[in-house]
Amino acid sequence: MRILVTGASGLLGLNLCLMEFGAHTIAGADRGKLHGTPFELVQADLTQPGAISRLINLARPDAIIHTAANANIDSCESDPVGARYLNAEIPGILAEACAKSGIRFMHISTDAVFNGTKDGIYTEDDTPNPLSVYAQTKLDGEEAVLSANANAVVARVNFFGWSLSSTRSLSEFFYNKLSMGQPANGFTDVYFCPMFVGDLAQTLVQMLDKSLSGLYHVVGSEALSKYDFGQRIARQFGFDPGLVIPKSVEESGLKAKRAHNLRLSIHKLSTDLGAPIPSVSTGIEQFYTQHQQGYPQKMRSYAQV
Ligand SMILES: NC(=O)c1ccc[n+]([C@@H]2O[C@H](COP(=O)([O-])OP(=O)(O)OC[C@H]3O[C@@H](n4cnc5c(N)ncnc54)[C@H](OP(=O)(O)O)[C@@H]3O)[C@@H](O)[C@H]2O)c1
Repeated sequence: MRILVTGASGLLGLNLCLMEFGAHTIAGADRGKLHGTPFELVQADLTQPGAISRLINLARPDAIIHTAANANIDSCESDPVGARYLNAEIPGILAEACAKSGIRFMHISTDAVFNGTKDGIYTEDDTPNPLSVYAQTKLDGEEAVLSANANAVVARVNFFGWSLSSTRSLSEFFYNKLSMGQPANGFTDVYFCPMFVGDLAQTLVQMLDKSLSGLYHVVGSEALSKYDFGQRIARQFGFDPGLVIPKSVEESGLKAKRAHNLRLSIHKLSTDLGAPIPSVSTGIEQFYTQHQQGYPQKMRSYAQV
């Protein structure tokens, strides 16, 4: 399968391209941040007129995994118009172009479409109620995709791993602070189900291989607080867990409102894949192993200087 990955310089996009390029033919679309990657690069700013049809004609994929977005929650609050175009309208345009050309389309969305007030686990049947501009634009993107392309997949994700900038993920936030002996705040009142980005890459491609379509929660099999996640990173790397400071998200000073409960059910995913979904524990072990193997440095070597 020839897969085009948008957002190839991003946390998910770059890991996906690097992990899947042996098994599949991968083309990564970026905006000039990458060089010397083992997979093919195609440059495209998706917001430019004609960029989407040019990209599809150039890459000629069998499938597109659309990871590109403004995924910075607080930056979306500052630029709601730009966030709407990139996160809500572009996915619909891409989905429609794929439907017309017989290209499979997978759109990456977020667990943050929920406001977190449910007393329990969110399933795909629960009605979303976004709290921020980011979450609202991502939800609008889901709807645009599913109405433009009946065969599309929408995957609501949450993940961690190493990134090009070394600063993109929550796991890197804890690693960067704790490795320098500095304290790091961990929210005790935000529960989520993070999945290691390598597991996510593999799961997304399995979903394409199985020709799944429609809405799926694609997160890790275990819910924990962000504080517990920080503690587990500390223990895995042999850092002092006491440096992870228990805090409430309400005292964080973050611009956009955050949900307290982002526990998502993976029942539909595991049933339709016919396979168990990886847990955060094995994911943190892999995050550590990659560190020991020099993966973060290797990743940074692909950054255009
Ligand atoms: N990180 C998480 O835990 C998380 C959680 C839930 C959902 N998600 C979703 O997962 C997806 C991937 O997130 P991520 O964390 O990998 O994001 P990221 O690291 O911020 O990467 C975003 C990617 O989008 C690209 N991009 C931005 N504007 C573009 C444009 N106009 N044209 C083409 N490309 C553009 C960026 O390119 P540049 O590098 O050139 O800016 C970058 O490659 C997003 O859809 C996000 O909403 C992420």
